[in-house]
Amino acid sequence: MLANFLGKVTQLEGKKFLKLGEEVNDSEIIAPEMKNSEVSLYIHIPFCKTLCPYCCFNRYLFNEEKTRKYFQHLKKELDLYLQKGFRFSSCYFGGGTPTVLMPELLEFIDYLKSNSLGKEISLETTPREIDEVNVNLLKQAGVNRLSIGIQSFDSDILRAMGRAFCNEEELKEKILTARNNFDTLNLDFIFNFPSQSIESFQADLEIFNSLDIDQVTFYPLMPSPHKKNALERRFRKVDTSREKDFYDVILQTTHASGYNASTAWCFSKGKRMIDEYVVDFDDYVGIGAGSVSLLQGNFYVNSFSLDKYAELTGQNRLPIIRLRKLSDHELMYYYLLSKLFGIKLDTDKFRQKFKVDIHKTLRKELMFLKLSGLVQEEESAIEVTLKGMYPLNVMMREFFSSLNGLREYCIENQL
Ligand SMILES: C[S@@+](CC[C@H](N)C(=O)[O-])C[C@H]1O[C@@H](n2cnc3c(N)ncnc32)[C@H](O)[C@@H]1O
Ligand code: SF4
Repeated sequence: MLANFLGKVTQLEGKKFLKLGEEVNDSEIIAPEMKNSEVSLYIHIPFCKTLCPYCCFNRYLFNEEKTRKYFQHLKKELDLYLQKGFRFSSCYFGGGTPTVLMPELLEFIDYLKSNSLGKEISLETTPREIDEVNVNLLKQAGVNRLSIGIQSFDSDILRAMGRAFCNEEELKEKILTARNNFDTLNLDFIFNFPSQSIESFQADLEIFNSLDIDQVTFYPLMPSPHKKNALERRFRKVDTSREKDFYDVILQTTHASGYNASTAWCFSKGKRMIDEYVVDFDDYVGIGAGSVSLLQGNFYVNSFSLDKYAELTGQNRLPIIRLRKLSDHELMYYYLLSKLFGIKLDTDKFRQKFKVDIHKTLRKELMFLKLSGLVQEEESAIEVTLKGMYPLNVMMREFFSSLNGLREYCIENQL
């Protein structure tokens, strides 16, 4: 099948892309000579109150003292970038759970603002941290986009996902508490979890529809190799052949309810800030333990180990442990993938960035996508068609699964 073929190609490219290269020297990292607004900042907070068995992000069980110290190291890392002349417009807090320790988070946001950063702030949280007090604090702090990880409303699925800390009624109540307080409220769901049925997923979507929310993101389950084995021992096979049925439900329901695709996974009402800064920004800096950065063709990986992260930032050094210089072709391929993930690629922007015409340099790739009916081109825009949405989902799943494999390797080896 076409989608599987493209997924395989992306998996191979993803593995090459993420092959860790040489160690890096701080002085090699310089602020790009471009408008500051073109670089985004990702801030990773790797602590959660409980650890979900499917999750491959760098996360540790919450400990107040460790988290407090972590925020201090984070500030040091940010300072190192500021001293190098970096300025950022959009800031994305991800995790882990950025809201695990609210006073430290709010102080950090203040610090961003005192440095004229954070004009646009997106932040992830779990329903556990949502209440009226926290919603007001986040709103006053200037958070523009709040994303809540719901995953499912089904009590059996929530239990299987290790997320029985809120039941359906409590989840709805929390969502309504957060609604209408931010420019964008997003809810995250996971599909194709081993014990999840199409019927239970349809019921999730019905509940979602009844809540009238700005944006929704559906992640296909993407476990790293060891997490996948563990899930399969407990439940049943993680079966990607079921994925298309779930994805069809997503496309039908979001379309019928007036949502437009912002990415293959994210659907919004109107124009909204999205989570995938890889789509909107060619260059991004990730700070925090386990973050990655892409700067002018170089892919950097931060230390995943909290101790190493503290040690390096304590020595006023960037906590980068590996660097991978991407070839021009790899970079163009990555650009094609990330922009198509955001549904539309602007060929003029491609020319400005790479000084070549995409039709010449990625001729075979484009021809294949067009002849298969997965994209169409009009004026200077290459756009994903309805037929292209599912293959795109598979490609992104494979790309992010490769990233999850890298995360697992770094976590297990405490790099
Ligand atoms: C990193 S989490 C942060 C949000 C918050 N900690 C939470 O869980 O509610 C962001 C989203 O990633 C998704 N996610 C995490 N692990 C995943 C996996 N293995 N496969 C697919 N999606 C995953 C979940 O939907 C989650 O809401
Ligand atoms: S899904 Fe969210 S809450 Fe669960 S472990 Fe991952 S980051 Fe933490």
